[in-house]
Amino acid sequence: MSGISANGKVILFGEHAAVYDRPALAAGIPESISLLSVEPTERSIHISIESWGLDADDGEDSRLGEVLRLLGRLVPGRGGCKAIFEAAIPASAGLGSSAALAVALSMTLAQVRRVRLSQEQVRNSAHRLEKVFHGTPSGLDDTVATYGGLCLFRRNGWGTEEPDSSAYEHINSCALRVPCGDLELLVGNSGIEHSTYEMVASVGRIRRENEFFVEAIFDEIEACLDDGLQALRSADCDGLGRAMLANHEALCRLGVSCSELNEMVELAVAAGARGAKLTGAGGGGGVVAHAAGREDQVLEAWRRRGYSGKRFTLFDGAYAWN
Ligand code: PMV
Repeated sequence: MSGISANGKVILFGEHAAVYDRPALAAGIPESISLLSVEPTERSIHISIESWGLDADDGEDSRLGEVLRLLGRLVPGRGGCKAIFEAAIPASAGLGSSAALAVALSMTLAQVRRVRLSQEQVRNSAHRLEKVFHGTPSGLDDTVATYGGLCLFRRNGWGTEEPDSSAYEHINSCALRVPCGDLELLVGNSGIEHSTYEMVASVGRIRRENEFFVEAIFDEIEACLDDGLQALRSADCDGLGRAMLANHEALCRLGVSCSELNEMVELAVAAGARGAKLTGAGGGGGVVAHAAGREDQVLEAWRRRGYSGKRFTLFDGAYAWN
């Protein structure tokens, strides 16, 4: 048994705003979590991922234990499993690790229990598991983890304002796939683990205190997404970079950046990147940069300050992550 894998993701525009029904754009990182081996067990569910130092089962008193118990109830049928996964992305770094794990877990237990789940059922299961991990996930991560590609997502679907359908391919009621040419990105890791749960909760607190202020920032973020999409369509590197920087600046005012992420953005720009921004929940985790030919210089500038980085190239239907 094998062949099971799930996507991590890089959010290009719209994190946090996505939780409040604003659109977001994210690219799936294929094979971020892959199943290495699985053995059926009578009842218990046990998982391990060596590179994350993770070894857990459904009997333990932890958030992951709770996730595994819920998984056992969500997937139809009986029986447990002992599964070993391999991770190609770091955990808690803004790359959608928990959603990728939630998708891989749902597919693995379904395979062990010999039930067929549609992609939409896998996404639904992963979304329920993400709620245990994160409280109020928008659904962006679990959608991209399931479907991959470049996804334009909106939590409650598109209603009557659905963007011009000729420019997108439907994935589900909440997400559209954006056809794109080659897209060269760098993904940097500050090495500081963050808690999506806490970052999303902190934005919720600020919004309860000052809804007008936060909604105005979300308006700006939505405008960045529109500009970024337009730039992507016309292969306008400068336009894409400008939109990323504006989105980062808006996230700073929302209070979800930190000095290390700001430094990574500044280093990227000083080394010649057209733009960069934090990606994911912030408060640690990583950044995404569009370096347009200055990739080596940006990676070197990050490395000198103790940050790591990888190239992420998204082709139409393929990818490279190294
Ligand atoms: O940091 P991550 O990879 O868990 O991404 C979180 C993205 C948010 O927009 C902040 C939350 C969400 O559910 O969309």
